[in-house]
Amino acid sequence: MMNTHFHLEQDDEGIAWLHFDMADSSANILSMDTLDALDQALINTAQMHPRGLILLSDKSSGFLAGADIHAFAKVEEPKQAAEQIRKAHRVFSRLENFSFPSVALIHGFCLGGGTELALACTYRIAENDSTRIGLPEVRLGIFPGFGGTARATQAMGSIAAMGMMLTGRAYRAKPAKRIGLVDLVVPQRQLRNAASQMLRNPPPPRRPPWWNRLIEMTPARQALAEWFRYQVAKKAKPEHYPAPYRLIDHWRRTVGDFDAMLESETRNVSELICGDTTQSLIRAFLLRERMKAIGKQSPFEAAHVHVVGGGVMGGDIAAWCALRGLRVTLQDQSHQQLRRAIGRAHKLFRRRLRDHRLVMEAFDRLIPDVRAAGVAHADVIVEAIFEDTEAKQALYAELEPRMRADALLATNTSSIPLETLAEKLADPTRLVGLHFFNPVAKMMLVEIVHGQATHDEVAANAAAFARQIGKLPLPVKSSPGFLVNRMLMPYLLEAVALYEQGVPGTVIDSAATDFGMPMGPIELADTVGLDICLHVAGKLAEAFPMSLPKTLRHQVDAGRLGKKSGEGFYVWKEGRAQKPAMEKNWRGQPEKQRELSDRMILRMLNEAVACLREGVVTDADLLDAGAIYGTGFAPFRGGPMHYIRNRGLHSIEQRLNELEKRHGEQFHADSGWHALA
Ligand code: NAI
Repeated sequence: MMNTHFHLEQDDEGIAWLHFDMADSSANILSMDTLDALDQALINTAQMHPRGLILLSDKSSGFLAGADIHAFAKVEEPKQAAEQIRKAHRVFSRLENFSFPSVALIHGFCLGGGTELALACTYRIAENDSTRIGLPEVRLGIFPGFGGTARATQAMGSIAAMGMMLTGRAYRAKPAKRIGLVDLVVPQRQLRNAASQMLRNPPPPRRPPWWNRLIEMTPARQALAEWFRYQVAKKAKPEHYPAPYRLIDHWRRTVGDFDAMLESETRNVSELICGDTTQSLIRAFLLRERMKAIGKQSPFEAAHVHVVGGGVMGGDIAAWCALRGLRVTLQDQSHQQLRRAIGRAHKLFRRRLRDHRLVMEAFDRLIPDVRAAGVAHADVIVEAIFEDTEAKQALYAELEPRMRADALLATNTSSIPLETLAEKLADPTRLVGLHFFNPVAKMMLVEIVHGQATHDEVAANAAAFARQIGKLPLPVKSSPGFLVNRMLMPYLLEAVALYEQGVPGTVIDSAATDFGMPMGPIELADTVGLDICLHVAGKLAEAFPMSLPKTLRHQVDAGRLGKKSGEGFYVWKEGRAQKPAMEKNWRGQPEKQRELSDRMILRMLNEAVACLREGVVTDADLLDAGAIYGTGFAPFRGGPMHYIRNRGLHSIEQRLNELEKRHGEQFHADSGWHALA
């Protein structure tokens, strides 16, 4: 039996094999369409009266990547969402209530709706190496709604299940077995056998330890809910991210009563999905997908990368590329710098790969190369030497004649125009910017800088390369500060100006985190390095009217560079800022806080509008993408342009005028606001 997305067969032992292979898609996704097809396939399965059912995926990417997030973005009212959720409940219950046992055979991605589907099976078997299983819904501002909360608590117990759902973490196979999410972990070659074997002698389904029931039945439940809230509050504020709090409430009220849990899932998730937070988080997700797609516009693929400059950036870029499977040669004029870079790479490999063999393999791929032997073979050359025009131009004069004709020449410059750098190249069309952010391993975004001469194909290849190493490519025009630093700097400078005017760093930082920034600007400046902030701000001030607070220079002159020197605006101990408690007169003053956050955020918004007007990025969506993934702009606000639309263009413009009257021309509204209106 076949339908568009499923095919069903029965083997000699009477076991039904239901293969999920979604049409026209590289991954299986749970949409209304595939859900209907699944329902039909399950009806057909029941008619076969099999001995048992094995549900598996024919996609190499994995079992099921999750629900259709594009459809989430189109939901207009809770009623519509509730209907879809109820339908999923019906289909999954059909599977769960079969008179014969069922096994979900899991490999690769099994996320969200995929995990909920697997939980509706009697057993779950996971492939050892590729499996990534979990319920990441809270990261999109909802919680599992296709029976996941009811079945996960039932199968795993409340503590393990809530831990998984509240963090949204994806587990590898073995940890998933440890928490009771899967029953068996086997290598690829034994998957099918293990499933048949399980159906031949079905063991009693796994149940969580007895004390879980006790927790659910007694007042301990209330105490546990408080503990969950306490843990969540360390990470997210309820007014910014309501979903985990709603999940805790939902659990507290309904756990242990399966039908009540399904009903409460329907109500809560359908309400959450239509809320601003969820819609903004979905937007952030889709923007990320868009950047990924930009990286797919060229088939370019690199095998060998040569990095010149083994300092903070070059060293870490080289390590990252080796981690992602590329052969890397790393050139620096200083042996000592190379040694340091290799030391940092080792730490990264150990942290990310864990397995000794994989760490050694990554190490073998990273080759120190003082003599620049790699230049002639590399598919990509990334230059990350000192920020000095002449040094860079002199280097290119050595590189260009030795490079392969089809190799990519990329610079990591953060402030020198590509046009200047390309001046002495025989072929200036081949130079492109690949602007990574510090720390390289953490920051997903890479700006793909298009100079006036840069060939479109070169830029597309650079984007494909960024994607190949798992980063998000954002095309930007070569103009001072590109997009991210340009938007970030006025915000940081306003924070430093406030500091100069006597507002304590902790107060400034908490105004920004209350708005939803992941880290306050004062702490961020210290983390980036005050010398680097001063340098970038200085370069921007050459191009745009912008005054630099004197404090910044004083700090740098005094050697207080921030985290790396042990002191900046804060004193730093063991990598943490020592923040004094907030003084009384600043506490519980929402008006004052709002004034502070407006002063910082509105300067960023104003700069965003200027960038859009100048065409630094092609459209408002890409600007939001850059802000969310490059500056950390509160994702639940959907990016600066989305925030502007939500809060109201005119009210922000008015507020800018008001701030200009009170604090000066740094708040002068950009002419781009009119075009937006
Ligand atoms: P860094 O000073 O840590 O490292 C520069 C390295 O280049 C040094 O190890 C030096 O020995 C080496 N070097 C200099 N001239 C060389 C030559 N001719 N041949 C071989 N090696 C040479 O500098 P950092 O911070 O890594 O910056 C590098 C580039 O990345 C700059 O263009 C900078 O603007 C850019 N950048 C820096 C960021 C940061 O946060 N530090 C962020 C984004 C971009």
